[in-house]
Amino acid sequence: MTDEYLRGEGIIQIFEERLKTAGVEVAVFSEVQPDPTDRNVAAGLACLRNCHADAIVAIGGGSVIDAAKVIGVAATNPQPLAAFQGYNKIPNRGLPLIAIPTTAGTGSEATKAAVITDTQRMVKMMMLDASLMPRISIVDYELSLTMPAALTAYVGVDTLVHGLEAYVSKRSNGMTDPLAISCIQLTARHLLAAYREPENRRAREAMALAACHGGMAFSSSGLCLAHGMSRPIGAIFHLAHGLSNAVLLTAVTRFSLNGSPERYAHISRQMGFCDNGVSDERAGEMLIDGLENLNARLGIPKLRDVLKVDRSQFESHVRKMADDALASGSPQNNPVVPTVAEIIDLYQRAW
Ligand SMILES: [Fe+2]
Repeated sequence: MTDEYLRGEGIIQIFEERLKTAGVEVAVFSEVQPDPTDRNVAAGLACLRNCHADAIVAIGGGSVIDAAKVIGVAATNPQPLAAFQGYNKIPNRGLPLIAIPTTAGTGSEATKAAVITDTQRMVKMMMLDASLMPRISIVDYELSLTMPAALTAYVGVDTLVHGLEAYVSKRSNGMTDPLAISCIQLTARHLLAAYREPENRRAREAMALAACHGGMAFSSSGLCLAHGMSRPIGAIFHLAHGLSNAVLLTAVTRFSLNGSPERYAHISRQMGFCDNGVSDERAGEMLIDGLENLNARLGIPKLRDVLKVDRSQFESHVRKMADDALASGSPQNNPVVPTVAEIIDLYQRAW
């Protein structure tokens, strides 16, 4: 399972030939779109059944891996996809899945999470279940060397938000903290280099590791408000996942600082935004400045500049987006749990 872009690049043919040489029958499904939908899952499932597949190899970014996860469990669970939304709602294990990420990244190769858009309800369904965990993941940074600069920036900020939200989550713990901090440190040190110098192998390798560590951390600690709010933007306006997180990051961090000043200060110090000697309060302020600056250096636009709607059209969706954000469960992990009105205010600030 992959997407049309990767199939066109010739990478998939290499895998195909090697599998065939090893005596494995292969069929390629390349219709997964960015921000995969229930329709992609249905098409993938039909392909899976037509070729009587007994395992899936997913080669691609988070969209491909997420779709493959859900196609794999749809093959062994007859319920409609909406029944899988939420925590631990998938009764049977899926087909064995081998995940090979080509972006660094969503960390999907290391998580029990998948996000699929319900096209009828215009909702990004968050599914969290051990059945979604890939059986094997192969993380090879060389596959990320050809990522375009903008994609490198978007998925890189997504990685950072995974580490950051895993670390401040109410469900963070002694197992997830070291992985979250590693993700944050690696991203702080290497994302700009990966963005500016696509062939920088050290930076690409570090970002691949950061993505994997971030995924492992949030798979157990959960994600928080930025992810809760970014999914409705993606569902309604089809904005890339990493970008929709990036445009929300500073407003959400500013809102959340008081809920966990020590943890945000620690992140600020680990990212090199301030010296160890400064107070937690000052370190928190410098974190906001540092994140804003990082966004600017990565060429992250403002929400108003990327959505193809005017402010009044955006405003007409804000109430539903706030309701969907809260319903996803992620904001409840946030250091400060917001009300609907506060989420609406944050969307307006991010505009
Ligand atoms: Fe994410």
